Amino acid sequence: MAKIIFSDTGRTINVKNEEPIKDACEKLGVPFSCTEGICGTCMIDVVEGQENLSELTQEEKDMGMNKTRRLACQCKIKSGVVKIKY
Ligand code: FES
Repeated sequence: MAKIIFSDTGRTINVKNEEPIKDACEKLGVPFSCTEGICGTCMIDVVEGQENLSELTQEEKDMGMNKTRRLACQCKIKSGVVKIKY
């Protein structure tokens, strides 16, 4: 089991290893719109655990994202803990 932590409040949501983080981020209050990596609404800062997320998708690269700034609709968590803010 992996975890997404919202850095401002410490609120934590469990996510299964290798699963998308979208639902957990939505519960933590991250806004979503297109869910296809196009609009940029779901942009998050990855404060800790960048290495625990899947590689950047082409959509994220096209949007100028990097290891510490990701599109939550595009990421899966491999395992471990990822701390985010938005
Ligand atoms: S919701 Fe549009 S880029 Fe993620």
